[in-house]
Amino acid sequence: MRTTPRPLTARRNGALHGRLRAPGDMSISHRALILGALAVGEARIAGLLEGEDVINTAKALRALGARVERCGQGEWYVRGVGVGGFAEPQAALDFGNSGTGCRLMLGAVAGCPITATFDGDASLRRRPMQRVLEPLERIGARVLAAGDGRLPLTLAGAREPIPVVFAPAVPSAQVKSAVLIAGLSAPGETTIVEAQATRDHTEKMLAYFGAQIRVEVLQAEMAGAGGRRITVTGQPELEPQPVAVPADPSSAAFALVAALIIPGSEVILDGVMMNPLRTGLFTTLFEMGATIERLAIRREGGEEVADLRVRGSALRGVEVPAARAPSMIDEYPVLAVAAAFAEGTTVMRGLKELRVKESDRLTGTAALLRSNGVEADISGDDLYVHGKGRALGGGLVATHMDHRIAMAALVMGLGSEQPVAIDDASFIATSFPGFVDSMRSLGADFS
Ligand code: S3P
Repeated sequence: MRTTPRPLTARRNGALHGRLRAPGDMSISHRALILGALAVGEARIAGLLEGEDVINTAKALRALGARVERCGQGEWYVRGVGVGGFAEPQAALDFGNSGTGCRLMLGAVAGCPITATFDGDASLRRRPMQRVLEPLERIGARVLAAGDGRLPLTLAGAREPIPVVFAPAVPSAQVKSAVLIAGLSAPGETTIVEAQATRDHTEKMLAYFGAQIRVEVLQAEMAGAGGRRITVTGQPELEPQPVAVPADPSSAAFALVAALIIPGSEVILDGVMMNPLRTGLFTTLFEMGATIERLAIRREGGEEVADLRVRGSALRGVEVPAARAPSMIDEYPVLAVAAAFAEGTTVMRGLKELRVKESDRLTGTAALLRSNGVEADISGDDLYVHGKGRALGGGLVATHMDHRIAMAALVMGLGSEQPVAIDDASFIATSFPGFVDSMRSLGADFS
């Protein structure tokens, strides 16, 4: 439990230099624990993100009867109970700040004949759960108590899960994954039709653990070109496999943008995952004129990874199409900071989903910029940032329990003329423990 807020200030301190390995990918870390817990036998995980969000998933899995143990830094092992094998927990499961942990675990519990109460912090209690509850009810789970589809809620898993075909109304890897995980308990095939492709870590890891899963790319004449139809065959015996978690591109993004906006910087980011459904930020930054070299491209943990050499760069404003949003959904706050330091206007289209993240990130990002002398407007679901190649700074940014707003604001402070303060740095630990020390090792001034 968090106690008092921890304010923090970032100030300009010259160019950044050095190497940094961002912590393990958050999405893969949650999935490795959950699928490990649904497998039969022991899964070893290396490089697990030991942030609060993932630790809460580990605790929930223990409460459901899986053995989850830490054997060294980032080294974990999970002894699974098999698909459908969770035991009823004694107390409410607390997912803290994590939408991913909560929604994926709703899917995991929905396929088991047990009842569990799900809860989280004030931020998570505000976020919509109906998007996952609706398909999970179709599979046969019952929501026993939930105030308007939000936490805290109690879910009774299906006694006889039904395979479904479901097309989520929003592009969401969390919804897709919850349904696929619940569908593991149903006899026959469970299908997700997504109009826009979202991160595919669940599909890849299910295949790796031996599930039968088919992924078809939808053709232009069908609804949603670029979308996918994903079908999993239920009731597999998942075989645990060793998982090596690559560095999280969403976390690496903060040091990357900091190096780009501070002239003279040269930073190497080690082992960053380059899954094509996660690299929208890199595409956008290339279009803006960023100097980012991909070194030592290789495969780790079933994903392409690369070391990225980033140099301080003159950036220009660009238009970011709505279709790119799923591949960079968590990166918009820090992209907006890069856009402030670019010359010209950057337009980011189709940001509706940002309103239901850990905070309303569309409003929060615009406020972050404006409080530091950068002109920004929201029009419908689009964000306009009018870059002038520099930012005044001097603002105090309200982070609203949102780790990514906090880190983006600190990056802003490293490049601004005046220091930038945030009201609370404590939520950074949900996704990037060690952020402050890692950035200091590159030369950042945080106090
Ligand atoms: C995630 C999916 C995304 C992303 C989140 C992680 C995942 O959420 O914002 O940080 O691991 O599946 P949505 O599915 O709500 O877009």
